[in-house]
Amino acid sequence: MTLLSEKIMAGDCRAVMPQRAPFDMIIADPPYGDTSLVWDRRVVGWLPLACRALRPSGSLWLFGSLRSFMAVAAELREAGLRYAQEIVWEKQNGSGFHADRFKRVHELAVQFYRADTPWSAVYNDVQTTPDATARTVRRKRRPPHTGHIEAGHYVSDDGGPRLMRSVVYLRNAHGRAIHPTEKPAPLLEILIRTSCPQGGLVGDWFAGSGAAGEACRLTGRRYLGCEIDPVMADKARARIAAVLPLGGGAAS
Ligand SMILES: C[S@@+](CC[C@H](N)C(=O)[O-])C[C@H]1O[C@@H](n2cnc3c(N)ncnc32)[C@H](O)[C@@H]1O
Repeated sequence: MTLLSEKIMAGDCRAVMPQRAPFDMIIADPPYGDTSLVWDRRVVGWLPLACRALRPSGSLWLFGSLRSFMAVAAELREAGLRYAQEIVWEKQNGSGFHADRFKRVHELAVQFYRADTPWSAVYNDVQTTPDATARTVRRKRRPPHTGHIEAGHYVSDDGGPRLMRSVVYLRNAHGRAIHPTEKPAPLLEILIRTSCPQGGLVGDWFAGSGAAGEACRLTGRRYLGCEIDPVMADKARARIAAVLPLGGGAAS
């Protein structure tokens, strides 16, 4: 087995990933369970395992729709996870399951951290943007956690770097994608830079195409992905191999 083949494990994340803890960051993009499609079945029981697999300073970025988050709201709490913030990924085209609803051109990614850890102890390198616009929020002092917003916290450093906006427009890999719900690696890069220190270990519990593996290689983080479909796991390994030089750092 090469170092590369260790990057993506084929199997059920509930069995595979807890043994590889602790993770500095977990990325989870499970089936949302929003449709009757055969592959779109909600996975149960993984949230408490993921929470326990996080370092105290770690956090979990979970992809989903509002519908899927509402369905697991109690489970998230019971697993010991606390909400931190969310971003909206806006894409150039969308999925239209209903003719009588808005065309859906976005996905949510929500960050959670361990409820037994204060937010101030969570690794959080908030990202700034070089292409600031008047609408871009200025960097503030370390922001309070939601629910503790007080007058006086919002003191901006005029002329300083600007915080990245929470709505991120990025084209999806339409046409080039190797997975039907593939996320763009640049989007994952933003989350990884924010929530995992250099050299830290990212666990990608529902790896699909391995897009997060590519993002880890490009940002200098270690990566361990898990994908239940062995054919997709092979494709993801090949995809990462095209980015990673052989022996380019195995996940520990
Ligand atoms: C929404 S897709 C992930 C797409 C991925 N983020 C990407 O950018 O390519 C969800 C993936 O989770 C996989 N999956 C479903 N149940 C799983 C489980 N119990 N353990 C690991 N992977 C699972 C599916 O086969 C599918 O490829």
